[in-house]
Amino acid sequence: MKITYLGHAALSIEVQGSHLIVDPFISPNELAKDIDINSLKADYILLTHAHQDHIVDVEAIAANTGAKIISNFEIVNHYGAQGIEGHPMNHGGSWKFDFGRVTYTNAIHTSSFPDGSYGGQPGGFLLETEEGNIYIAGDTALTMDMKLIPMQCQIDLAILPIGDNFTMGMDSAVIAADFVECNKVLGYHYDTFGYIMIDHEKAKNTFTKAGKELVLLPIGDSLTL
Ligand code: NI
Ligand code: MN
Repeated sequence: MKITYLGHAALSIEVQGSHLIVDPFISPNELAKDIDINSLKADYILLTHAHQDHIVDVEAIAANTGAKIISNFEIVNHYGAQGIEGHPMNHGGSWKFDFGRVTYTNAIHTSSFPDGSYGGQPGGFLLETEEGNIYIAGDTALTMDMKLIPMQCQIDLAILPIGDNFTMGMDSAVIAADFVECNKVLGYHYDTFGYIMIDHEKAKNTFTKAGKELVLLPIGDSLTL
C-alpha cells in the first residue's frame, strides 16, 4: 500500500491495484500548489465529512476519473443528485470492496456542506487490505470509541489529525495512538490555516517521548506499508 500526502487532510492511496483519494482539498491549498488534480488517478473518493476543506475538488476529480464516492448516506446522496455514483455507508458498517474492507468509524466533529445543508454525521475509515490495515480518523476529537478499533483489527498505521483547534492536537493524538494500539502515526490536518499551524519538531518529539513515531510527509511525498 502506497500512501501519498496531498496536503491538509487529502491523501492518495494505491492498494490492490485501486486508487483511492481521501478528502480532496487541493486546488485552494497554497501549500499544495505543486499537486495537479488533473493528474490524480481515482477509482474511489473517500469522504469523512462534508466540510469544505475535505470536498472542494470532489466534482473535478470525479469528472476526470469517473471515481465512485464512499461516504456516509447523506454525502453520497448529495453527489448522487449531481450524477456522481457512490456507495453509502453509516457508522459501524463495513463493506468489502475490490481493494479491501472498509468500515465507517465514529468521529466527534460536525459535517455541514459549505451552504449549510446537512452532511450527515462525520466519520473516519478503517481499511483492511491484503497490503496492510490503516485507520484514517477524519476530523475528530480524541474519543473513547477509538478503543474499539484494535478490538476489530490490528492496524499498521494510524492517520490522525494533529493540528488542534478544529480537531484533536498532538497531545491528544498520542493518546489516540495508544487507544488504537498503533505506534506509527501519519499526521494530517495541520499547517493549512493560521488556526492549525504546528511546530513540526515539537510534534515529533511529543511522539518520540511517548515511544511512538510521528511521520510528517512533505506534500507530494509517499510512504509505503
Ligand atoms: Ni471538518
Ligand atoms: Mn477539516
